[in-house]
Amino acid sequence: VDPRLFKTIMASFPSGVAIMTSVDDEGRPQGLTLNATCSVSLSPPLLLACLDRGSNTLQAVRSSGRFAVNYLAAGRSDLSDRFASSAADKFSGINWRRSAAGLPVLYRDVVAHAECTVENEIEAGDHVVILGAVVAGSADPEGTQPLLYFRRTYDQWPVGLTAPVQEGARA
Ligand SMILES: Cc1cc2nc3c(=O)[nH]c(=O)nc-3n(C[C@H](O)[C@H](O)[C@H](O)COP(=O)(O)O)c2cc1C
Repeated sequence: VDPRLFKTIMASFPSGVAIMTSVDDEGRPQGLTLNATCSVSLSPPLLLACLDRGSNTLQAVRSSGRFAVNYLAAGRSDLSDRFASSAADKFSGINWRRSAAGLPVLYRDVVAHAECTVENEIEAGDHVVILGAVVAGSADPEGTQPLLYFRRTYDQWPVGLTAPVQEGARA
């Protein structure tokens, strides 16, 4: 298939937008914008993320063996743009903290986050598929709206999603 057509086909499937975060060898937070991520298994709980081989964040994920996926809330396309850039300090001035496990996690600007340990890594063309075992996380009980990405454009879901998440969503 023509690469442009491939990209256009893939861009036709809408997704949310996440920020994947990890820590490098010196304990500094690293992160990138990610939409190639999804749930894989319930028992055990697994998710996957596809990272470009040249990603700085991939190096941090490999060396620390852990990462978090922070699912952005509607209206936070500025964070998506920032983490898709090569800015030196992507974390400066934003709402983040270190979790009990020491991972940088975003708050206020997300609908949920998942903390993972690396279970497996699969080479896949110019990307690497990281399989993560989900060990902790949280989901916003207020039913916050997610950021939407479709045909390379940010938006929000056209109808209000007000349903609360299930009991026990807070880990
Ligand atoms: C909406 C959006 C989704 C993206 N999804 C991915 C993705 O799934 N995997 C990936 O490797 N890069 C993805 N990128 C590009 C990275 O965020 C970008 O290359 C980033 O600069 C990599 O940062 P790093 O080298 O510090 O890890 C996406 C960018 C945008 C704007």
